[in-house]
Amino acid sequence: MRIAVLVSGHGSNLQALLDAKLSGEIVGVLSNRSNAYALERAKQANIDTAVISHQDFPTRESFDARMHQQLLTWHVDLVVLAGFMRILTPDFVKKWEGRMLNIHPSLLPAYKGMHTHQRVLNTGDRLHGCTVHFVTAELDAGQAIAQAILSVSSHDTIETLAQRVHQLEHFIYPQVVQYFCSKQLIWNNHQVYLNNQPLLKPIRFLD
Ligand code: GRF
Repeated sequence: MRIAVLVSGHGSNLQALLDAKLSGEIVGVLSNRSNAYALERAKQANIDTAVISHQDFPTRESFDARMHQQLLTWHVDLVVLAGFMRILTPDFVKKWEGRMLNIHPSLLPAYKGMHTHQRVLNTGDRLHGCTVHFVTAELDAGQAIAQAILSVSSHDTIETLAQRVHQLEHFIYPQVVQYFCSKQLIWNNHQVYLNNQPLLKPIRFLD
């Protein structure tokens, strides 16, 4: 299984994937930002990198087409979004349907989009966490595969939640990627299967 990881920033999830014992191989790290620290991590792990800046392309379509080309060059089987901060076009998503994963810092379907920790605190939720899901054209709406859940304490701030959720992310993302690499996790015709059983709700991990 040849894996590409798409990043825009710090890359702590990339690091967790690099450190995990995956049966697949991370063959390339693609960033839309040349200053993403994730690129350093990839270089230190001797992994091929590509910087494709969205600012160099007139449209989302042309940017996505260039990314697609890069993924084909790497002969990628699985695309892993790890803090990749661009909205993808439906055409690109379609090409990687069932072969592209994302991790999102909330218990989806709650809090799609940005500023999830702030929104959780504003609402006064007692539970928070992260979700790994297949990517579909609608933002943060693809089928959830796994969720890790934490209890929000009265002392939590945006910073502590960010840190606690990150820790959970580093725990569940490599596991789900490994399920995919070992073909325990399969997408077939809009249905997700885990160990040959239709996955009707996400696997849950409690902090
Ligand atoms: C994570 O919180 C992830 O859920 C979100 O972007 C953040 C990326 O963090 N999609 P990092 O770059 O992996 O440290």
